[in-house]
Amino acid sequence: MTVVVGITGGIAAYKAVGVVRGLVLHGHDVHVVATEAALRFVGRPTLEAISRNTVHTDLYDGVAEVRHVALGQRADLIVVAPATAHTIASLAAGLAGDLLGTTVLASRAPLVVAPAMHTEMWTHASTVANVATLRSRGVVVVGPASGQLTGDDTGQGRMAEADEIIAHALAAAGPKDLRGRRFVVSAGGTREPIDPVRFIGNRSSGRQGVALASAAAERGASVVLVAAHLDVEVPSTVTLVEVQTAAELHSAMVEHAGQADTVIMAAAVADFRPAEVAEAKIKKTVETTGLVLELERTPDVLAGLSEHRRPGQRIIGFAAETERDDEAMLRVAGEKARRKGVDLLVVNRVGWNEGFGATTNSVIMVDGDGSVVSRAEGDKVSVAHRILDLLR
Ligand code: CTP
Repeated sequence: MTVVVGITGGIAAYKAVGVVRGLVLHGHDVHVVATEAALRFVGRPTLEAISRNTVHTDLYDGVAEVRHVALGQRADLIVVAPATAHTIASLAAGLAGDLLGTTVLASRAPLVVAPAMHTEMWTHASTVANVATLRSRGVVVVGPASGQLTGDDTGQGRMAEADEIIAHALAAAGPKDLRGRRFVVSAGGTREPIDPVRFIGNRSSGRQGVALASAAAERGASVVLVAAHLDVEVPSTVTLVEVQTAAELHSAMVEHAGQADTVIMAAAVADFRPAEVAEAKIKKTVETTGLVLELERTPDVLAGLSEHRRPGQRIIGFAAETERDDEAMLRVAGEKARRKGVDLLVVNRVGWNEGFGATTNSVIMVDGDGSVVSRAEGDKVSVAHRILDLLR
């Protein structure tokens, strides 16, 4: 996709570098249109290196190629981050006094703006009216978030984080082949308490599950994400339900699967939990040489969901395997797919240095009989899209 990122003159311009970078890493051709003021906050070389394209600023550059409208006409998506109060007012009024203004007016692509300003400016009647005007035209407004502002003050006005802006932007521009669909996705790793301060957990970061949930939302699905201890941010395009233990995850999944047409179990659920949880912190004495913990089985959430599935509901499981060769791994995975009664099992190899926490993944998708239907490799967002391609 050709994406124009408009950067305007606020201190949050430094965070726009992350927006540009993220969009490039998602495989898009990113063209930065920066105002002169923006370039006082972040340097042109940085933006050119990160975007891998020339940065455009001046309305009177590239006149022969009619650049003031050419960029907008070519764009599949325009993201303005940060959008200052001044920029929001200009966009609402349809002003064409600078390159960003002409680019936006010449474009019919989705427009996403990420405001950043002090709270007083954001809540001023002028800005409120301008933002309402933009929203009424279908402009997607992401943020601003609350928190520490540039000075000592805190409040609403911080630009949303780059990942959130990107998720909304891609959602605005992407194909909507999952519109009307209802997904429930689990992600992360459960923690089973031993005592008030200790737990048995696992190394899942939740990255692949969150990538699936956000990608499904981008493609138009309504998505509930049942999340256990994620290491990654969740975009506000999905409904987040936070859980701690396998038991909590189980009941949340059962509840939300009741309304879903597609269930994806990407969470690493504990197979065993302490049979008893100590009320107080377990203490040691000088004589203590060891500790025996009795563990009991947790319910198999995936098998239960597939056994009680609604008619037509699709159930997708994950399998994390440590077998070294593909043949052995696929044998184990095929047996797991049949045992759990899934429609699709996404198999990935994990190990001390593989799988967990990484930003990339390599998976093999097998059907309910264990036959290979597809393979995908790359960053977890791209892998998520390849999995979703099978669920359209
Ligand atoms: N799973 C589940 N409930 C559990 C354990 C796992 O729903 N108590 C789900 C996982 O979310 C995943 C799938 O089952 O979608 C397979 O998880 P995995 O850990 O690979 O398999 P296990 O059933 O735990 O089998 P094993 O550990 O023996 O390989």
